[in-house]
Amino acid sequence: MHTIRLSHQADFKAWRSGARTALEAGLAVRNVRFVVGDEPGDLFAGRERKHKKQRDIRVPKDFMALAERALCHSDAGRFTLLYDLADRLQHKPLLLKDRADAQVHRMNILAKEVARDKHKMTAFVRFRKVETEDADLERYIAWFEPTHHSLEYSAPFFVRRFTGMQWSIVTPERSAHWDGKQLRFGKGAAKSDVPQEDALEDYWRTYYAHIFNPARVKLKAMKAEMPKKYWKNLPEAELIESLTRSSGARVKDMIQHAPHFAPPAAPAPVVQPLKPAADLAEVKAQLAKCSQCQLCQGATQAVAGVGPSRAKIMLVGEQPGDQEDLAGLPFVGPAGQVLGDALAEAGIDRQGIYLTNAVKHFKYEMRGKRRLHKRPNRYEVDACRWWLGQELKLVKPDVILALGATAQYALLRRNTPISQARLETTRLKMGPEVSISYHPSAILRARSAQEKAQLFDLLVGDLVAVHAKASLLETA
Ligand code: URA
Repeated sequence: MHTIRLSHQADFKAWRSGARTALEAGLAVRNVRFVVGDEPGDLFAGRERKHKKQRDIRVPKDFMALAERALCHSDAGRFTLLYDLADRLQHKPLLLKDRADAQVHRMNILAKEVARDKHKMTAFVRFRKVETEDADLERYIAWFEPTHHSLEYSAPFFVRRFTGMQWSIVTPERSAHWDGKQLRFGKGAAKSDVPQEDALEDYWRTYYAHIFNPARVKLKAMKAEMPKKYWKNLPEAELIESLTRSSGARVKDMIQHAPHFAPPAAPAPVVQPLKPAADLAEVKAQLAKCSQCQLCQGATQAVAGVGPSRAKIMLVGEQPGDQEDLAGLPFVGPAGQVLGDALAEAGIDRQGIYLTNAVKHFKYEMRGKRRLHKRPNRYEVDACRWWLGQELKLVKPDVILALGATAQYALLRRNTPISQARLETTRLKMGPEVSISYHPSAILRARSAQEKAQLFDLLVGDLVAVHAKASLLETA
């Protein structure tokens, strides 16, 4: 038996180099053991290699990325599982494509659970300000108890999100420290080592009380998404009980403040009488016949929203693009790809959200044989608002993220620059809270890779924030 030592539970570097040496030496999984901690590993003991290199090792890039994530899982068998897979890949390079393979399946599950754990961390970490000797220096610290060993995997997200802050995230096992330039990892600590109260607590409590939607309370589901173990570190959690107790009265109050979406005041050229739809299928059927404005004349079809009929999160874009117009589905073209990447990075399941647009028909101008996107005007957005209102009334999302200026105008009838608008949220009379972010096509249009990366990170951050809000108000 040969031992490979890892300095901590998510020490991928040591796993990779130890596994490589052992695989090169042709050691079968039964002859290799991984230990975490100070016990010396014999594979590298002494200067000279104990095992002769028998073969060159090759594994696909995809495997390394998945293995790095899966290694952060708390499953004790993960080191040998990944080793065995790496060994089998030497004879079967396409093994990862075999989803029915039990080991490939297991690795994917582990990697998925770690991604979920990262998402929980990004949503529920709460930084507290700490005093430093330097009055100009602001430092923040957060206590968190992840389910897996996912701090290493999650920390780069916080670097991108809080680049300008100096912070530490402390877990029982490991800690991450960002000084504005460098990310370092160290030992874990006890909860009592981390300050638990500061002025930011009030901010979180006010924020939570503000976003609370009493019509959507399901305590059981809420606990499933945000287990009690996270509650104890969330300043806003102490409000949950009192807010849920008063939710009945608040729902009544909300109902009295009727929905504020109405058919457009200024009639379009050919106006059909519009009848509220009973469900989303009816919205789609009615929309197919819409001629509220002239955009229906050039478009292939109207594109209705997609997603669960009671999604917690609704994303509103501008209008279908060329590919969406042909497919009849929102966000399937290049902007949709960017949005998909941002959702994945934010740990949000695309199938779980409702995706729609402010305007349902593609507006374009011909340039040669190409149909080039043209921004809808105010009148067209107003004419289409009825459909968005129908979707809102039926889906009843908890939170809405408006992507770009057109969606902002459709929902809030204002044109605040996105850089400013994304810093605030607005509650609609109907209940849900609207946040604003950049449209994915702003990322496609960015002039430099740096600008692209910055906008992408901001969009991901805004998605994480709405997801966190929705999770706090979890519904079935
Ligand atoms: N841009 C949008 O705003 N919506 C789509 O569906 C596609 C591109």
